[in-house]
Amino acid sequence: MNRINRLAAMVSLASLFPFVVHAAESKGTVEVVHYWTSGGEAKSVDVLKKIIQRDGFTWQDSAVAGGGGGAAMTVLKTRAVSGNPPSAAQIKAPDIQEWGRLDLLTSVDDVAKANHWDNLLPRTIADSMKYEGHYVAVPVNIHRINWLWLNPVVLKKAGVSKAPATLEELYAAGDKLKAAGFIAIAHGGQAWQDTTVFENLLLSVMGADGFKKAFIDVDEATLTGPKMTEVFAALHKLQGYLDPDGNGQDWNLETAKVINGKAGMQIMGDWAKSEWTAAGKQADVDYLCVPFPGSQGVYSYTIDSLAMFKLATKNDNPGNIAARDDLAKVALEPEFQYVFNQNKGSIPVIKGLDMSRFDSCAQASAKDFANAEKTGSLAPSMAFNMSTSQAVQGAVFDVVTHFMNDKDADPAKAGKQLLAAIRAAQ
Ligand code: BGC
Repeated sequence: MNRINRLAAMVSLASLFPFVVHAAESKGTVEVVHYWTSGGEAKSVDVLKKIIQRDGFTWQDSAVAGGGGGAAMTVLKTRAVSGNPPSAAQIKAPDIQEWGRLDLLTSVDDVAKANHWDNLLPRTIADSMKYEGHYVAVPVNIHRINWLWLNPVVLKKAGVSKAPATLEELYAAGDKLKAAGFIAIAHGGQAWQDTTVFENLLLSVMGADGFKKAFIDVDEATLTGPKMTEVFAALHKLQGYLDPDGNGQDWNLETAKVINGKAGMQIMGDWAKSEWTAAGKQADVDYLCVPFPGSQGVYSYTIDSLAMFKLATKNDNPGNIAARDDLAKVALEPEFQYVFNQNKGSIPVIKGLDMSRFDSCAQASAKDFANAEKTGSLAPSMAFNMSTSQAVQGAVFDVVTHFMNDKDADPAKAGKQLLAAIRAAQ
């Protein structure tokens, strides 16, 4: 970050937090279950906490570590089942319907009406936040998934002259990086990270149409056809470039390897940028972002949202309800949308904000989102639970991980396994 940007960041943060509120003066408490625990993510969620505190409420932080949110969802389910839900929790749109059916969510229609959410949000996003026509959740951002992050200094040292734009160029860059002694692609061997790579390869080989046929229509011919064989074969090939020490590693520790110059690239959603930002690094200077090779034009995404839970009897008082309503209100205000998304690596979910206040990666993301919307190339991510239930997502995780753990696995058979696993989980 140059000096002017640093100053601008300080000024905008200072304007957010003019008062320090004494705990004793709290008007009520809002407890939030979330999984924003990496350095950059924690900085992002701190923005929300500070605004809530400034508004006179207490923020009770219930962070559950674990990228992709699997561990947080387990905690949330246990708490809900035992009658002790938090005020709000970070969940994805298809799950909102499931929690709604269990009668655990509460409507925030009053907040939505008073703050004109129907006008602020794109229609499809607004609809996905509603259960039976009532707002029960608030979205905070749009994350793009199909990105490749690169360290230009490492690339240069390895003799890679430009960011790869095709799978062939990606393999060629990987060969050069390995030959020069670098980790080609930083990658943590966890099921959700493996599936992120698989999904990106699928977008590259099959495009948005193939993606939709596979994961929204569950089309047999697509899931078992020759293009799917190509995707699995590419997955085996790409494995040769992934960090050999990445087994079980958290995504942010892998990002650190790219930041520190040990690795050249990482395939990850743009929360990876939050780590670069937290480390004081600048887009286009210290790091590059390009769409995952071959998937240009497609925009796969996930949206973080905070679902509002009915409070347990012991917590159900006007102060805590006011605190929860404040959270809902703040989440869609421009002040929060700017600072949170600048830290988080995502783009704002509300319409009409000034993108010149964001870096070049976020600007490209906003532009690509708008283009993909026009061309019908938006892909709600399967790996991040936007197009499938958690059960189907889990079934895909199993097939992908199993395939990656068996280097003799036959790519031509993997599609059939995928189809069977998805059908069994539906
Ligand atoms: C969430 C992001 C989060 C990432 C890593 C995704 O599911 O949408 O907000 O940063 O997981 O945990």
